[in-house]
Amino acid sequence: MMRSEMEQDILKVLITEEELKTRITELGNQLYDRFQGRNPLFLGVLKGSFMFMTDLVRACQLKSDIEFIAVSSYQNATVSSGCVQITHDLQQDITGRDVIIVEDILDSGTTLAFLKEYFLTKGAASITIVTLLDKPSRRTKAISADFAGFTVPDEFVVGYGLDYAQRYRNIPYIGVLKPEVYAGT
Ligand code: PRP
Repeated sequence: MMRSEMEQDILKVLITEEELKTRITELGNQLYDRFQGRNPLFLGVLKGSFMFMTDLVRACQLKSDIEFIAVSSYQNATVSSGCVQITHDLQQDITGRDVIIVEDILDSGTTLAFLKEYFLTKGAASITIVTLLDKPSRRTKAISADFAGFTVPDEFVVGYGLDYAQRYRNIPYIGVLKPEVYAGT
């Protein structure tokens, strides 16, 4: 039995480890069918996507390469600041590449609307958005995912890469945080 210092802060488990694994296998197969023979670039958006990215690329045995960009729009708040900052930029030329953006969550859409535009100005041939979680009820930008793992309700979700104030990313499932943990922020 794995011990956890964080379990007491979790209201409920929303998506189990098993459900994550099953769905990511399906997504990997769908991406395989879409991109076979095209050498796509998997582009993970840090930090939130780090766990999803590693499982997704293993579930999709295409000839492909990987890249990361780090952005932040939430700082330590629960609502997006609306202003996206690149904290670690691309380390390679993406001109002419079929880019698969890998995100942990599509919430207001601020981050992905910004990144889609940014990668197009950098010369990407195509952009495909893959998000593990989709929270459509909070969308303020006209953007949608090409592939989404799970649609989630408007609750504060953490785990499997997703944080609150940089914590809880290492929880192996997706859970809902107890409101008292973030009350007052
Ligand atoms: C989170 C998440 C997405 C973004 C989604 O990033 O990882 O990138 O917010 O929200 P949006 O659709 O409202 O833009 P955050 O800025 O918290 O940084 P992190 O990935 O380092 O946790």
